[in-house]
Amino acid sequence: MDVYEAVTSRRAVRAFTDRPVPRPALERVVSAAAWAPSASNLQPWHAYVLTGDPLAELKKRAGERVATGDPWDEPEYEMYPPALKSPYRERRSAFGEQRYGALGIAHEDIEARQRAASANWDAFGAPAALFCYIDRDLGPAQWSDVGMYLQTVMLLLRAEGLHSCTQMAWAKYHRSVAEVLSPPDELILFCGMSIGFEDVTANPARTGRAPLDETVTFVDGVS
Ligand SMILES: Cc1cc2nc3c(=O)[nH]c(=O)nc-3n(C[C@H](O)[C@H](O)[C@H](O)COP(=O)(O)O)c2cc1C
Repeated sequence: MDVYEAVTSRRAVRAFTDRPVPRPALERVVSAAAWAPSASNLQPWHAYVLTGDPLAELKKRAGERVATGDPWDEPEYEMYPPALKSPYRERRSAFGEQRYGALGIAHEDIEARQRAASANWDAFGAPAALFCYIDRDLGPAQWSDVGMYLQTVMLLLRAEGLHSCTQMAWAKYHRSVAEVLSPPDELILFCGMSIGFEDVTANPARTGRAPLDETVTFVDGVS
């Protein structure tokens, strides 16, 4: 698979089969992803790869919290600014329409949206997951390094025939994740990532992208 194909075939997949993910494939992916770049080579990512009973235990704990309406844990970082400005606000709501529209959920059906969103904490049925932490003393540049690492993981997963969905949703239950993973106190959970083989019978949400001239400016002296 060439890089363009890996990039364009990666999507946030939210329906997986229960086919196990071979451990050697996961090892190849995290070994190669270690070559992701980072400013001054800090390599600020701390990844935990979960499969089998530990992942089942985490899904059980999170599922129980969802079912009993247990409130989310106190946030350790701000996922979005409180008042998202234009054009991000419009892009976010367009994404919501695409995501829930693909499931046949009407805009005003908040309960159905919440039900669909709760699949986050079952890792969308995936048999493997990666949890990515960052040291709480690090700043925006290192968070950006972590993003590059995660995208590298996602592209390598495509090369293995696997799909993924990065999920900040797991940070809402970071205490449950920590109960299973026991990370050092100085780490913050940025996100989880569901990993597995896509359930191709599900109806996927197809996201679009803003026109290129909204996000990229060529400055080359040619009008
Ligand atoms: C940092 C990050 C966090 C995300 N968190 C979630 C999440 O919690 N739940 C979810 O279903 N998708 C999540 N996504 C997936 C995005 O919604 C998705 O990448 C975006 O809508 C673009 O769609 P595409 O990845 O299918 O191209 C996340 C993606 C990123 C990069």
